[in-house]
Amino acid sequence: MNDTLKNIYERRAVRKYKNMPVANELIDQLIAAGCMAPSAMNKQPWKFYVLTDKEKIKLFSKEIGHIAIRMMKSINIKEIAKMALGFFHLSKVIDYVTTADHVFYNAPVVIFITSPRDDDWGALDVGMCAQNIMLAAKAMGLDTCPIGFAKFVTKTKDYYLLNIPATEKVELALIIGYGNEQPKAHKRVGANVIYV
Ligand SMILES: Cc1cc2nc3c(=O)[nH]c(=O)nc-3n(C[C@H](O)[C@H](O)[C@H](O)COP(=O)(O)O)c2cc1C
Repeated sequence: MNDTLKNIYERRAVRKYKNMPVANELIDQLIAAGCMAPSAMNKQPWKFYVLTDKEKIKLFSKEIGHIAIRMMKSINIKEIAKMALGFFHLSKVIDYVTTADHVFYNAPVVIFITSPRDDDWGALDVGMCAQNIMLAAKAMGLDTCPIGFAKFVTKTKDYYLLNIPATEKVELALIIGYGNEQPKAHKRVGANVIYV
């Protein structure tokens, strides 16, 4: 298997990190790799809001966690389970309950990625960009996890601290760091290819 394929197969969503910062130059290299992703009409619509300050990461994690709990209170238990399992593998739900930082898992780097609200392809483009970053990170000895919950950051009282203009939508966040676990790959869904 060549290195690219190996990276693709070995990348995992990592939710435990060593207490080790990631050098700014490495973060810049990852974002540069993200920017090499394809984008509809070559709009390159992504913008990156990078948090490395531990206290700020903790603050947003706490606030996002509260918002998520508030939202969950207003929906029934079946929907909560569906939502949780949409984000996590079942074994990770257990980790979620027992981990102190329920949103960003004490990772040293959080990158919120936005696209313009009026760009219909923004979410897809950001997804491609995020995948580039995650694969590049894996190639550089780093680990990552996409954090869909991070979308709730817009509802937090300290959202303004990120200086994200109202014209932009937070599509996703990535956490990045030196992983402290090596999760096994989840079984992939099969029989989903139809040659026509
Ligand atoms: C759009 C998206 C949103 C996700 N949101 C979260 C999240 O909020 N929290 C989390 O722990 N994992 C999140 N994940 C990670 C998935 O749970 C993980 O990718 C999936 O279980 C497959 O595991 P693997 O990445 O190790 O192959 C998200 C993944 C994607 C693609």
